[in-house]
Amino acid sequence: MSASGHDRTPPSGPDRGSPSGSDRPPAGGRDRPPANGTGRPPPVGRPPFDRIAVIGARGQLGSALVDRRWPVGTLVLPVTRDQLDLTDRESVWSYLLRWRPQVVVNAAAYTRVDRAEDEPELAVEVNQAAVASIVQGVSAIGARLIHVSTDYVFDGTADGWYREADQVNPLSVYGRSKRAGELEAFALDDSLVIRTSGLYSSTGTNFVRTIRRLGRERDRLEVVDDQRLCPTSADDLAEAIGVAIEAGLKHTGLFHVASVDDATWWEVADEILRLDGRRSAIDLDRISTEQRLAQGRSIARRPADSRLSSEAFATAYDHTLRPWRTALADVYRQLARRDDEPAPAPA
Ligand SMILES: NC(=O)c1ccc[n+]([C@@H]2O[C@H](COP(=O)([O-])OP(=O)(O)OC[C@H]3O[C@@H](n4cnc5c(N)ncnc54)[C@H](OP(=O)(O)O)[C@@H]3O)[C@@H](O)[C@H]2O)c1
Repeated sequence: MSASGHDRTPPSGPDRGSPSGSDRPPAGGRDRPPANGTGRPPPVGRPPFDRIAVIGARGQLGSALVDRRWPVGTLVLPVTRDQLDLTDRESVWSYLLRWRPQVVVNAAAYTRVDRAEDEPELAVEVNQAAVASIVQGVSAIGARLIHVSTDYVFDGTADGWYREADQVNPLSVYGRSKRAGELEAFALDDSLVIRTSGLYSSTGTNFVRTIRRLGRERDRLEVVDDQRLCPTSADDLAEAIGVAIEAGLKHTGLFHVASVDDATWWEVADEILRLDGRRSAIDLDRISTEQRLAQGRSIARRPADSRLSSEAFATAYDHTLRPWRTALADVYRQLARRDDEPAPAPA
């Protein structure tokens, strides 16, 4: 049985029409009664949900969620593309019906921001249509959904930190597809939609690993210094999601969850090189977004200032993410440990 104690009727058919009726930007979420089906708080020591599926389990956030330290007795189902292809509606449906998780975390997405400009259909298929399929499956089994979105739903022209109720205006195919996915997730009135920013981790392809590698290969780097954001460790975001799940997902709706402070990409690069002992050996040049676009090194437009205020989440779940420098130092230590590990023996 589902954690929320009741099964919901699946929506009728895949083309369920516009989600406009659910286009509700809840400012910092809503309160819910404890979602354990009894109306009472869960017994001390027993997690409110103990069967959690993580879609996109090989991605940065997905891996961090799978690796998180969960309460004893929690079964985390790592869902990879081999088990569930988001472009195949049947595979989404059959996975969820077969494994019947209580909570589904959708950490999967089409995340190649520049390439999305050339393959918008695929971006929309993964970031919007697949979310609609997940919503249907989640609804059918009476589970709860946590869906992850992005600061790129904003155009970056606000004066200050973005809050949940602020006007969206994505500048890119990726941003528009992610916004469309948010609207699909809002079709469930008890979903938790989390917008985050500038994710990095010790695995996968990301800015931190790229700069660390380039800093060891070159003596000069150019990095954009006019995009301000909240660089967020995937481990820290996974922890915040875990905290919300352990609290019974009692606050739902839309929340921003990102590092508590902000930086430009140049500032992040500066810190990575410092941690790696390479800063004095590198000329780290500042370039503008317009220069990068003109050089053809970026294609998609990105917001100039997409700082996310996570205050609403901090208030709701009593949890704040660490400053990015502290979290980055942790990721750097993980990378350094991996350097020290012996290479795997040849097969
Ligand atoms: N990265 C950022 O800077 C950033 C910033 C803000 C928000 N976000 C959002 O945060 C979330 C997590 O991002 P991330 O950086 O962890 O992503 P990621 O590392 O790029 O991982 C994405 C995952 O999605 C999976 N995936 C893609 N297409 C799929 C398909 N058709 N079927 C099944 N799985 C598929 C990938 O599977 P494979 O491993 O098989 O390719 C991968 O495991 C996403 O919603 C993203 O939009 C990211």
